[in-house]
Amino acid sequence: MLSVRSINPMNSQPLSRRRFVGAAGLVAGSMITRPLFGADAPSHKLNVALIGVWGRGLAHYEAISEENVVALCDINEARFPDALKRFPNATTYVDWRKCLDHKGLDAVVICTSDHTHAFIANWALKRDLHVYCEKPLAITVNEARAVRATWESKKGKLATQVGMQRHAQQNFNRVRELVRDGAIGELKSSYAWGNRKLPKPGYFPEEGTPPKGFNYDLWLGPSPYHPYNPAYFSGAAGANCLSWNMFWDFGAGQIGDMGSHTMDLLWNAIDAELPTSAEAKGEAMNSDVTPVECESHFEHPANDWRGPITVSWFQGGAMPRSPKPFIDLTKIGHGVMFKGTKGFLVADFDSRMIVPFGDEADLTYYKPRTAETLLPPVGVFQKQWFDACRDPSKKTACDFGYSSNMIEQMLLGLVAYRVGKKIQYDPKTGTSPDTPEANVFMGKQYREGWSIDG
Ligand SMILES: NC(=O)c1ccc[n+]([C@@H]2O[C@H](COP(=O)([O-])OP(=O)(O)OC[C@H]3O[C@@H](n4cnc5c(N)ncnc54)[C@H](O)[C@@H]3O)[C@@H](O)[C@H]2O)c1
Repeated sequence: MLSVRSINPMNSQPLSRRRFVGAAGLVAGSMITRPLFGADAPSHKLNVALIGVWGRGLAHYEAISEENVVALCDINEARFPDALKRFPNATTYVDWRKCLDHKGLDAVVICTSDHTHAFIANWALKRDLHVYCEKPLAITVNEARAVRATWESKKGKLATQVGMQRHAQQNFNRVRELVRDGAIGELKSSYAWGNRKLPKPGYFPEEGTPPKGFNYDLWLGPSPYHPYNPAYFSGAAGANCLSWNMFWDFGAGQIGDMGSHTMDLLWNAIDAELPTSAEAKGEAMNSDVTPVECESHFEHPANDWRGPITVSWFQGGAMPRSPKPFIDLTKIGHGVMFKGTKGFLVADFDSRMIVPFGDEADLTYYKPRTAETLLPPVGVFQKQWFDACRDPSKKTACDFGYSSNMIEQMLLGLVAYRVGKKIQYDPKTGTSPDTPEANVFMGKQYREGWSIDG
């Protein structure tokens, strides 16, 4: 009988339980028809932990209930009774560091506040766990780089996905096809914007004490200390992030909020890696709160199908210029625009339009795809990740490579905003060669006892 550290005849490497779950799935019907361990092993279910069980966590209940939910983690113990009704066999944890060491765990879904995402994701990868992390993957440039470095060291072995689930909407593929296939000629610039405004004067002042079972110190986690105030936790399920994500120590403002989704629509069409410069401007700097109104601009090198391009992000009232006065871009709350040598493409999450311009823009240079050559649909976004957990050679749409690059670019915009001038960026080192004072803003101070490299 095979043991947990079974030998894979293909490569003579010991198989972990997790890899065995995948391998058993692949060989079902051939010699090995039943995996050999775990109450649920015959169905090849993954042992999953949900970290952050309420709010956004609720949106994952359906997808994870197809698997074996073995652990539930939340700093707010009042959330456990309801979660346990759905997942009665799970062990509960208030500290994600302990949860990640749950025996036999295969995969984690992270739905906590933004300032813990990169920490939990990085720790989980280091424990060889598959990771689904809600957006944004990080709140500083250095956090994004740390997660990517770990992900690269595990590439092809672990499945990752950042919760930018709008990516599964068909329009993402259609926009990409139009840009790639030359419907607007040669791509030159691209723009994304969002109009959500969540102004706040500063961190909330100390008020009251955390309710029993609400582990505020664990909620703060790696963040510098800020006193408790119930206003951080007064939002509706799935929208409570709008109570804390604008503060520098807890989030990245609209960049991490709607900006992640909207920039994903843009990034999906440009095949970019990291930019070589950033510049930004916006309202006056507030040391507590990220800017509401702000715009940032990045230069990206050429790739194998296009020349160098610029990428711009606008938020909180800042907007790109419309290609024509009769097109009111402000009617699109969260949108993107691409400018090519022969026209513009404007899109929101589920629709798009082409605006050809100039005497040459007769569209003869553009051949629409046939039904057979359309990009294949992503399908159910969480399922794509679970499929990749079973077979990590399968791609996920928003893996930690793509998603860390995207958020690193966005967060670099906040660095340029804080420095107040255009900075050059060296993607290899994550530093600015011409503006050393920018480097201090690539990372941040954490509370003693917390390290991203756990
Ligand atoms: N993909 C999307 O469309 C989408 C939509 C809404 C929210 N989100 C993201 O989901 C995350 C959570 O947002 P929310 O509005 O649900 O926030 P929330 O403040 O309601 O937190 C969700 C749950 O996580 C718990 N939690 C917080 N920090 C924790 C920690 N360190 N350890 C364990 N549990 C912790 C909370 O107690 C709560 O039960 C945010 O990062 C947000 O950006 C994504």
